[in-house]
Amino acid sequence: MKNKLLTTTLFLALAVPFTGVSASTDPEADRQALVKYFMDAHGSTKFEGHSLKIEDFRFGSNIFDPDKMSQFKGSEEFPAYLDHLEAGEKLWKKPFANGKTYARCPGFNDTKTLRAKYPLFDDGRGEVVNLDQAINECRTANDEKAYAFGGKDKDMTKILAYLANESRGQKINVTINSPGALEAYKLGEMVFHTRRGQLNQSCSNCHVSSAGRRIRSELLSPIVGHTTHFPSYRSSANDLVSLQQRYVGCLESVRGYAFPANGKELKALEFYESFMSNGLEIDGPAMRP
Ligand code: HEC
Repeated sequence: MKNKLLTTTLFLALAVPFTGVSASTDPEADRQALVKYFMDAHGSTKFEGHSLKIEDFRFGSNIFDPDKMSQFKGSEEFPAYLDHLEAGEKLWKKPFANGKTYARCPGFNDTKTLRAKYPLFDDGRGEVVNLDQAINECRTANDEKAYAFGGKDKDMTKILAYLANESRGQKINVTINSPGALEAYKLGEMVFHTRRGQLNQSCSNCHVSSAGRRIRSELLSPIVGHTTHFPSYRSSANDLVSLQQRYVGCLESVRGYAFPANGKELKALEFYESFMSNGLEIDGPAMRP
């Protein structure tokens, strides 16, 4: 175990650090700096017959390994999540005890555009609302019990998978146009760049500076594209995993203090990571190792 820790720490120390981030007040400039960093580092990589483009980053770490990409495409032909999608659709369409359905909640009538509306910053309430929270608010408004967050309730993850699939092809389009939204963005930025845990690593160390490198047997994905394809179906877990659940998992992996799923910090993190993926296609759910 000690050796493993040491190898991980050494490996990460060797990576070229990303220096484009300063507590900036211009999210769009931050995003462009990040895109430029990745394009400078990987823009000449060949991917599916062309030079890698930022839009390709929705495929996660598959962009760095042609064998992984072809395995991914193979697994998407008969994906393991088909039953979950069907179950999610049933749950979505099943009337509540009061006879109403999710589709009657404000903004919920069109499943083809629903996923792309979130996460958003609600100025009235001064908080980030992600799709998980919006689903729960629709439930409680109809006198149904809220689901537990962070993948603890499988029905919630199935609904998220169904809605992601319905919105395939729509683009991530997070807007920041109020002081409150900017505050939330900055909190997310801080969570992403703060070193923590026994390994003293930040999200950025692994998913910016070391993206495209291997840590033990795993190829590290870039932050750009992190939010396009959730929930993902992890073959290692044999199950769907929601984005908030993945965040908690990555925090636990550095043996750091884990923020609660869907709390202020991890919703801000989702807001920040989604903004960094603006313009990329939604393609969830997707298979991942
Ligand atoms: C010590 C390295 C390390 C740190 C630090 C780390 N992760 Fe990860 N993360 C991984 C590995 C390994 C994987 C699985 C391979 C991959 O897809 O990147 C992963 C996967 C992910 C994924 C899924 C990617 C996909 O394509 O499905 C997300 C999202 C993610 N991490 C977010 C974060 C966030 C946010 C933080 C900070 C709270 C973080 N990670 C911290 C190593 C790390």
